[in-house]
Amino acid sequence: MRYSTVAAALLPFVAAQTIVVDDNTVVEANNDTVAPAVAQVAATTTDAPVEYFPDETLQLTDDILANLTDLQLSNISLFSFDNGTLSKRGLFDGCKTYPGDLLWPSNLTWKVFNLLTGGALIKTTPYASPCYDDYGNYDAAKCAYLTNNWSNNSYLQTEDPTAINSILFQGATCVPQEYALGAIGSGATKKCELGGSPAYSVAATNVAQIQLAVNLARNLNLRLVIKNTGHDFGGKSTGAGALNIWTHKLKNVKFVQNYRDTTYNGPALKLGSGIQAYEVYAAARQYGVTVVGGEGRSVGVTGGYIAGGGHSPLSSVYGMAADQALAYEVVTADGRFVTASRTVNTDLFWALSGGGGSTFGVVTSVTVKAYPKLPVTIMSWTLMTGSTISADQFWGAVRAYFASFPTIRAAGTYEYWNMVPLGNNGFIFNMQPFFFPNMTTAQAQALVAPMFAQWKALGVDIEPTYQSFDNYYDAWNAGFPLESWGTGNIRQGSRLFPKKNWADAALFNQTFEAYKSVVEDGGFIVGVGIQAPLSHGNIANSVNPAWREAYFHAILATIFDADADAATVQAVGDKLTFDWVQRWRDVTPGSGAYLSESDYIEPNFTQSFWGSNYARLYQIKQQYDPLGVFYAQNAVGSENWKMSEFIYGNLPSQNSKLCRA
Ligand SMILES: Cc1cc2nc3c(=O)[nH]c(=O)nc-3n(C[C@H](O)[C@H](O)[C@H](O)COP(=O)(O)OP(=O)(O)OC[C@H]3O[C@@H](n4cnc5c(N)ncnc54)[C@H](O)[C@@H]3O)c2cc1C
Ligand SMILES: *[C@@H]1O[C@H](CO)[C@@H](O)[C@H](O)[C@H]1NC(C)=O
Ligand SMILES: *[C@@H]1O[C@H](CO)[C@@H](O)[C@H](O)[C@H]1NC(C)=O
Ligand SMILES: *[C@@H]1O[C@H](CO)[C@@H](O)[C@H](O)[C@H]1NC(C)=O
Ligand SMILES: *[C@@H]1O[C@H](CO)[C@@H](O)[C@H](O)[C@H]1NC(C)=O
Ligand SMILES: *[C@@H]1O[C@H](CO)[C@@H](O)[C@H](O)[C@H]1NC(C)=O
Ligand SMILES: *[C@@H]1O[C@H](CO)[C@@H](O)[C@H](O)[C@H]1NC(C)=O
Ligand SMILES: *[C@@H]1O[C@H](CO)[C@@H](O)[C@H](O)[C@H]1NC(C)=O
Ligand SMILES: *[C@@H]1O[C@H](CO)[C@@H](O)[C@H](O)[C@H]1NC(C)=O
Ligand SMILES: *[C@@H]1O[C@H](CO)[C@@H](O)[C@H](O)[C@H]1NC(C)=O
Ligand SMILES: *[C@@H]1O[C@H](CO)[C@@H](O)[C@H](O)[C@H]1NC(C)=O
Repeated sequence: MRYSTVAAALLPFVAAQTIVVDDNTVVEANNDTVAPAVAQVAATTTDAPVEYFPDETLQLTDDILANLTDLQLSNISLFSFDNGTLSKRGLFDGCKTYPGDLLWPSNLTWKVFNLLTGGALIKTTPYASPCYDDYGNYDAAKCAYLTNNWSNNSYLQTEDPTAINSILFQGATCVPQEYALGAIGSGATKKCELGGSPAYSVAATNVAQIQLAVNLARNLNLRLVIKNTGHDFGGKSTGAGALNIWTHKLKNVKFVQNYRDTTYNGPALKLGSGIQAYEVYAAARQYGVTVVGGEGRSVGVTGGYIAGGGHSPLSSVYGMAADQALAYEVVTADGRFVTASRTVNTDLFWALSGGGGSTFGVVTSVTVKAYPKLPVTIMSWTLMTGSTISADQFWGAVRAYFASFPTIRAAGTYEYWNMVPLGNNGFIFNMQPFFFPNMTTAQAQALVAPMFAQWKALGVDIEPTYQSFDNYYDAWNAGFPLESWGTGNIRQGSRLFPKKNWADAALFNQTFEAYKSVVEDGGFIVGVGIQAPLSHGNIANSVNPAWREAYFHAILATIFDADADAATVQAVGDKLTFDWVQRWRDVTPGSGAYLSESDYIEPNFTQSFWGSNYARLYQIKQQYDPLGVFYAQNAVGSENWKMSEFIYGNLPSQNSKLCRA
């Protein structure tokens, strides 16, 4: 075996729970003998434009590592940085290391690792295990709480180190019974199992812990996962046998009155990567500014959201979330902590701003632009077929709304809607909300008056409700409902529809028909009306070029019977991927999809998610992470890897080994 020297060095540590310290004294590994491996460094550096947060001043340094010699761990280099030799060794060309493999950490290694992180290591106990007997922690009250909140409280899964929303891709191996799937996971086994969940998590509260985790994972070829909120649509924050870095506790916020670099001079907010939308908006309100974030309350703003591009109720005015980035602090695959800003490590900065999460490093904070306080009007409606509105009238109204895009986009609106088929040619269209940044009620009403006049001519006469606010937070808070998602019997896809489809009447008709036909066929839509060109002095980044051309982003979902057999589920999913969304691809050639709200098996994903930016992203990935320390389904460079098993025929199973393709 090519890694035999590494493995041989590990063998002394496999059996015993003791370590050798200070000239061969054998002692038990505990917090008297192994201190946390952490140094306090200065908060101010030449690279970082804003001083480090307190949790960023606690780092792993070469001096600290040198002291691990006392533990005689140095000769196995378990926690050492990649100094360039490892990547040249040509090791690890098969699968990642899994339990049972020679390189899988021994109990002692986990124990020492825990001590070095100051007790931050958590061995995974599935969140819903209190609903089962398997972990010896059955608890009816806790199970009731989890069951009641599982699918209608999007804060729930964020509070656990490994729980995620897209449970289907984890394998649904330990979910409250009423969310179990008949064909796979706990539905099939009636048991609570780890499935695709990581084996261990580091609940990070400082940079040193993240560096130790990255180094350990890289040196032993472990699968490494990063979980922030677990909201990712594509299971990118889960993976069997992995070491997981949980960034949720990195909650610092700092207001910077005068940020200045060669591209920007103005207010900014530095945000820890655990910060969620409701927190960033509250902080911005407190400082009298406005910050671009998502509509979802619980989404992590500076984790997967900003990394993936990030659409916002303010995007039509200020651009994508990633466009707002000024600087990142990040632990890279070699274990080092670096700044990537508009002026330092600019290639990494470009890649982090749109290239997707879990690819280039573990981000601990992002500094973003802040804008002046801004008035906002919101409006909502519910349009439903019934005794007074026929299906023809309904679609006529939807068509008039679509036809208004050139006008309303130019005015900077964002619309967030859902459209649901009710059966028997019945439909419902909830606009919740229509968001008018920087507009009064009168301005908003004037903007949409032509559309409502068309509705009236069609016999669709509704009274939308308007509310106006003098600041963004209050409008966002009043306008967007708390979303939820914990079910596994769902598959999703999406597409970005370009504005050029509005420039030609025949193409507009085809586009509208393609949209309408999948709703008539039973597809559920979450639509986002938006435009996001580069504006306000924002600089080019790796955000999908298709976003720059888009007039709307449509998420499409299909829901299947949770007890359906595997073949039925595959048929339903294939219809979504290869028929419904294909109708959309056919009318939008060369466009793409939004990676953060996309199909788990998006065809041709590199083109779809990054278009012409992909070649450079791939090159930067190879430069910063030649060993593939960071991996996630559909991430840049993930085409070099494959999951070794599938569920429902063609869905890569996160509960299987990750191997080089
Ligand atoms: C209820 C809900 C509402 C949403 N609303 C919006 C919205 O308004 N606008 C929008 O654009 N999208 C929205 N999304 C999609 C959202 O952008 C993605 O789910 C995104 O991946 C969430 O990022 P996260 O960090 O919160 O989640 P996670 O699932 O924890 O992480 C997502 C990905 O980023 C990686 N990652 C997380 N933290 C870091 C880090 N610190 N460093 C490096 N990689 C990291 C993870 O490994 C994973 O690959 C919403 C999703 C949900 C479920
Ligand atoms: C050391 O570990 C013991 C037992 O786990 C714990 O009670 C104690 O608080 C720890 N001490 C420190 C300094 O962390
Ligand atoms: C390393 O250990 C020595 C001896 O215990 C100690 O004096 C020194 O401060 C340690 N260095 C660091 C960076 O902790
Ligand atoms: C490696 O560790 C062993 C103890 O497990 C020790 O005896 C040996 O001297 C170490 N080798 C080096 C090169 O440090
Ligand atoms: C790199 O690390 C290895 C393993 O720890 C060590 O043997 C080697 O001397 C280091 N090389 C350099 C240039 O630091
Ligand atoms: C390691 O710990 C697990 C429990 O976490 C235990 O089942 C196993 O026997 C231990 N292995 C060894 C070699 O002690
Ligand atoms: C969570 O569950 C409790 C009962 O177990 C319930 O009272 C509460 O409303 C739920 N919260 C949400 C947001 O659903
Ligand atoms: C969530 O669902 C539970 C029942 O499953 C219900 O008791 C609770 O009120 C709901 N909460 C919200 C916010 O809808
Ligand atoms: C908001 O509108 C005012 C005029 O009403 C205009 O001066 C200002 O530039 C607008 N702000 C943005 C961000 O578009
Ligand atoms: C587009 O569709 C509308 C409504 O169905 C129709 O009136 C119009 O003629 C069509 N235009 C083109 C160019 O096909
Ligand atoms: C992927 O997209 C590129 C660029 O549009 C195209 O040339 C290629 O044929 C596509 N490949 C597949 C398999 O669809």
